Parts: sequence; structure tokens; C-alpha cells
Amino acid sequence: MTKTARILVTGGTGTLGRQVVPLLRAAGCEVRVLSRGAREGGDGVEYVVADLLTGEGVEAAVAGVGTVLHLAGGPKGDDEATRNLVRACVRAEVRHLVYISVVGADRVPLAWLRTKLDSERTIAESGIPWTTLRAAQFHDLTLTMIEKMTKLPVLPVPGGLRLQPVDSAEVAARMAELTLGEPKGLVPDIVGPKVYDIAELARPYLELRGRRGRMRMPVRIPGKAGKAYRAGANLSSEGAEAGKGTWESFLAGRVG
Ligand SMILES: NC(=O)c1ccc[n+]([C@@H]2O[C@H](COP(=O)([O-])OP(=O)(O)OC[C@H]3O[C@@H](n4cnc5c(N)ncnc54)[C@H](OP(=O)(O)O)[C@@H]3O)[C@@H](O)[C@H]2O)c1
Repeated sequence: MTKTARILVTGGTGTLGRQVVPLLRAAGCEVRVLSRGAREGGDGVEYVVADLLTGEGVEAAVAGVGTVLHLAGGPKGDDEATRNLVRACVRAEVRHLVYISVVGADRVPLAWLRTKLDSERTIAESGIPWTTLRAAQFHDLTLTMIEKMTKLPVLPVPGGLRLQPVDSAEVAARMAELTLGEPKGLVPDIVGPKVYDIAELARPYLELRGRRGRMRMPVRIPGKAGKAYRAGANLSSEGAEAGKGTWESFLAGRVG
């Protein structure tokens, strides 16, 4: 890994970003984190307040930065947020724009995935050299989902839905490596080492919690998105990189 000029990290306070920032610091980079909330910086990390959705503060956040690592994301409006960021990056003559997207963004027709695909396109068409990595669902988010589902009296099991959850620490390491390297365009996806259905994800969680298995209720995801999920459009594509951290080992560390 080589040292680069100051790096702006959007989403540097989130699950992924919190793990990437120390890696960039360890590589000797000055890091600026863009967040909607004010925070105290220190040890080579500066926090600036900006909101990517309104655009407020974004121009100042990007000023004087060589590389932008765009990890901020939410349930809605990622396309608009990315457009606001890219506009500021073009004006600031940023040299490398690095983005995290989601596996299947180009294959699963869901509104929030379309915002990721739109973001990818905005970046690719910005004129700024870029790198985009699509990642599978993180174990962290899978845990949140399984916790909620296993609170229900019956476990809804969407027929044909499978996930390939990945360790967010491994995604963070890959993002740091890509950020410190040369722009590469769209790089191979990163996914977890195993494919699971919902019942297979719930079983080890319930065991670790010492709770009984739930009665399963088959449900069907409707429409084109359901069809895409049943066809495995959210799973690894050819050439994908498989992480090593399994769901079971993540659970043992987090719940066990
Ligand atoms: N979680 C997954 O399973 C998964 C899988 C593949 C890809 N991804 C992508 O990876 C990225 C990071 O995911 P994560 O799970 O680490 O996210 P997260 O924990 O939910 O954190 C979201 C981050 O986005 C920032 N943010 C949200 N709205 C913003 C806005 N309007 N302006 C500025 N910052 C804003 C938040 O910063 P403040 O709250 O400090 O403002 C926070 O740092 C996202 O783009 C997500 O789509 C996630």
C-alpha cells in the first residue's frame, strides 16, 4: 500500500467506514470523514459536517482532497447523494473516486438497488478516474435482519431467497487496498464463503441464543425482484472474490 494525499471518506462513521478509516491511517494517510453530525477529530482524522442529500457542506468537505472513498448510504436517495458528491468532486478536481455498491445492483430490479446502480453510473460517467466494488450483504446487517425475523411467532422463509453474507472487516480491507491503489473501474465482486437460505441463517443464531427453532412459514417474493432473487441474481458472479469469514464464526464472536 502506498501513501496518498488526504482522503475524504463519506460514511466513515458507519459499520464499514469505521473499519476502513484506521486502515487508511495505518497506511500513513491523512483522513477526513464526512458526517451529518459534528465529531471531535484527532490522530490524523478530521471530521467535517455535511449532508450528501441536501448538498450542504459537501463542497467544503471535498476541497483539497485527492481521493474520495464514498461509503455513505441509506435506505433512500443514494442516487441523489452521489450526484451531489460527484458534482463537488468534479469542481475540486479529485483524482480518484472509490465507491462501494451492492452485488446484484445491475440484476435485481428493486428501487434501492437502482439507486446504487445509478450511483455507479454517475461515478463512471463523471470523468474522474474511479473504482467500484460490489459487496454482498454484511454479516452485521444479516444479524439485524435475523434478530428481527426470529422475534416473530413464525419464521418467514421466502422461497428461493439465498444470501451469501460477507465479513465487513474483509470488505473494509479490500476497500482500503483499492483506495490506496490506482483506479481500476469495476472490480470483481466480494461475497461471503457460503450460500444460505433464511432457515440456515436463523438456525445457528437460535442455537447460540439457546432458543428453540421457529415454525417456518413459506412466503413468496412477488414480481420481477422475486424472480431475480430465485434465480440467484444477488449471489456471486463469475470471478467474484470469496471472503473467509463465515456466518457461524461471526455469530460466535458477536452472539456467543
Ligand atoms: N450493510 C451491508 O450489508 C452492505 C452490503 C453491500 C454494500 N453496502 C454499502 O456499503 C455502504 C456502507 O454500509 P454500512 O452498512 O457501513 O452503512 P451504515 O452503517 O448504515 O452507515 C451509513 C453511513 O452513511 C452515512 N450517511 C447516511 N446518510 C448520509 C447523508 N445524507 N449525508 C452524509 N452521510 C450520510 C452515515 O453517516 P452519519 O450518520 O455520520 O451522517 C453513516 O456513516 C453503503 O453505501 C451500503 O449501501 C452495504
